[in-house]
Amino acid sequence: MHGILDGREVVFFSGNDYLGLSRHPLVIEAAMESLREFGAGAGAAQLISGRTRDHEELEKKLQSFMNAEAVLLFPSGYQANLAAVSALAGEGDLVVMDKLNHASLIDASRMSKAELRVFPHKHYKKLEEILEKYPDKRRKLIVTDAVFSMDGDLADLDAVCAIKKKYHALLVVDEAHAIGVFGLKGSGLVEEKKLWQEVEVRTGTFSKAIGGQGGFIAASREIIDYLVNTARPFIFSTAIAPHLCRAAHRAIGIIESEPPLRKRLLWKTFEVRDEIQKDLGFPMGPSQSPILPLLMGSPEQALAFSQALLEEGVYVPAIRPPAVGPNQSRLRLTLSAAHTDEDFKKLLFAMKTTKSLAIPAGVYPQA
Ligand SMILES: Cc1ncc(COP(=O)(O)O)c(C=O)c1O
Repeated sequence: MHGILDGREVVFFSGNDYLGLSRHPLVIEAAMESLREFGAGAGAAQLISGRTRDHEELEKKLQSFMNAEAVLLFPSGYQANLAAVSALAGEGDLVVMDKLNHASLIDASRMSKAELRVFPHKHYKKLEEILEKYPDKRRKLIVTDAVFSMDGDLADLDAVCAIKKKYHALLVVDEAHAIGVFGLKGSGLVEEKKLWQEVEVRTGTFSKAIGGQGGFIAASREIIDYLVNTARPFIFSTAIAPHLCRAAHRAIGIIESEPPLRKRLLWKTFEVRDEIQKDLGFPMGPSQSPILPLLMGSPEQALAFSQALLEEGVYVPAIRPPAVGPNQSRLRLTLSAAHTDEDFKKLLFAMKTTKSLAIPAGVYPQA
C-alpha cells in the first residue's frame, strides 16, 4: 500500500486490493510456479488451445467457492460482464439496470441490441414500473452491481429478487467489489443474503480483493454451456493467462481460510468512516463497504483536496465526470486489510490538517 508518487513516498488509499492479496507471498509463489510451467500467456482462446490445467482447477475452485454449478473464465471482469449481458439478451428483449451500475454493464447492454431501460439508483419502485410496461418482451434481464463502485453502497438484493420473481425476469449480479468482503466464506453479497437459488448469473473479477487479474461468470451448467457457444467476448479472445488462474486459485483459498482478514477490513472501514464523518465532519454517502466517497461537488474542490492530501503523504484520487455525474465529484477513498494502523492514523491526521485548507466550510452538498 506504500509507494512513490511524484517523487514522494505515499500511502495509497486508491486501489481495490481490499485484502492485500496481490502482494501475498503464497499468491506470488503460485503465479511463479505456473509461469515456469506454462509460460507467460495462454497463447490462444480457450476453445482453440488456450485452456490449461490451471484453468480447469480454478473453475472447480470457483464452483465450490461461489456455490455454483458451473463457471466460465475471462481475461477481465469487463469481458465477463460484456459476455453475460450481451449473450443472454438480444433484439426483442429488455435489459433493466441501476443507473450506477459499472460502465461494462451499460456497454454490454448496448452490444446486446436489447431495449435498455435504466432506473434511478436503488429506486426499485421504478424498476417495477419499467417491468410492468413491457409484459410482451421475450426475455427480461435485471442487472445490478452488488456493491456500487463509486458510492460503496449495496444493492438491496432481497428487494430485487422479489421483483424479478414477480415479473419472471432473469437476474445478473456483478459481485466485483463484494467478493472477498461479504459472505461467511467471502464469496460476496449473494452468499451473505443466501440468495444462490434466486440469482441466475453472478459475475466477478480477480482484480479487486482476489488481488490479480481476470474475470468469471458463475451460473447453472445450462447457462454456461450456452455462453460457451454464444458469448463473443469469450469466443474471440485469448484465454486468461494460466499464472493469473493459479494466483487467483491461491488467493481464494486464503480468503476462505483467513476470515480475520475480512473482519479487520470491515472493522477498520466502520472505524475510519465514523471518524471521518463524525469527528472531521465530512459528509459521506451511505457506503457500507471499504469504498468511502468524500463528496465534494465541484471537480476543482476534489482535485485541490486530493493534492493537499498528497502533500501530506496520502494518495486519495479525485473522481470527476464522466466517471461520476455532474456535481458528484468526490474523493474515492478505499481501504485495505493490508493498511497498517499507522497508515490509518496518517490518513486521518492528513485529513484533519488539510481539511480547512482545501475546502472552505459550508460548501459540501448534502450526502
Ligand atoms: C463493478 C465493477 N464491475 C466490473 C469491473 C471490471 O473488472 P476488471 O477490472 O477486471 O475488468 C469493475 C472494475 O473496475 C467494477 O468496478
